Amino acid sequence: SKYKVFVTQSIPKEAESILTSNNVELVVNQKTPLERGILLENVKNKDGLFCTLNEKIDQQVLQTAGLNLKVVGTCSVGYDHISLEECRERNIQVGYTPGVLTDATAELAVGLLLDTSRRISEAISSAKSGEWGDWKIMWMCGRGLSGSNVGIFGLGRIGLAVANRLKNFGVNKIIYHNRKPNEEALKYGYEYADLDTLLQESDFLVVTCSATKETEKFFNMEKFKKMKPSAIFVNVSRGSVVNQEDLCSALKNGIIGAAGLDVTTPEPLPLDHELFKLNNCFITPHICSAEVNTRVKMAVITATNIVNALQNKPLLHQIN
Ligand code: GLV
Ligand code: GLV
Repeated sequence: SKYKVFVTQSIPKEAESILTSNNVELVVNQKTPLERGILLENVKNKDGLFCTLNEKIDQQVLQTAGLNLKVVGTCSVGYDHISLEECRERNIQVGYTPGVLTDATAELAVGLLLDTSRRISEAISSAKSGEWGDWKIMWMCGRGLSGSNVGIFGLGRIGLAVANRLKNFGVNKIIYHNRKPNEEALKYGYEYADLDTLLQESDFLVVTCSATKETEKFFNMEKFKKMKPSAIFVNVSRGSVVNQEDLCSALKNGIIGAAGLDVTTPEPLPLDHELFKLNNCFITPHICSAEVNTRVKMAVITATNIVNALQNKPLLHQIN
């Protein structure tokens, strides 16, 4: 008989055919957002689950799925939405998609940084809305990368890719803070800094850490107060690494200069949220890896992870 896999939203045909050509029967959810009740109903008696970061994969989901469930494949590099401990207890393998989205994510981080610092989207809106008058010397001025200090918090694959892109912008230096120095970063000459130095010296602070208990709400008022009042804060990690109320108030009160965020709490961010009202906060809707080839590759890896687990082969990328 066929393996049964629930897929939480429609996926590229390249990924779908990997599953269907490997003896998998798919149930693909069509209605988004996927309601929790529909997820619970559909995981029952499945052998595999193809999910995204939208779905919280916790004890209830795994228990409801039952004993057949052998693999959870998330189409993402982040896995803070999955309870790894619960998966481990049930011998459920967890696959994810590191590597393929590094370049796309780094590109967007740089884009968001440039947009926030040089006020590109703000300037585009102002041109469209009739505020474009005479060429004025100090109008729409931002702060450029040239001569600046760039700080990276949580430098791994993505942080390194961000640094490698930014170093060509004539920056003064690139520093980073991790729990321990990153060998590859040393090779490129990126300086390891203690946290206070990172906060105090960065003109641009890019957050590329993973979301864990240790990084939860890590960026709070205490940290923002150590930063330069002109500092630009860019987050492409997870909204959960920021104390968002503190960020709001830091932006409103000139504690830091501006923020570019691809991730928020919650997602989507409600339209009436205070962050949307600030003219020094620029938000993209979690699109860091949204590059066509990247997303197809992510879906293909996820499908392959699932098929491999079902066939007792090693996953391409396994977490637990
Ligand atoms: C995106 O945020 C991902 O985790 O892949
Ligand atoms: C800007 O357009 C300049 O000519 O300086």
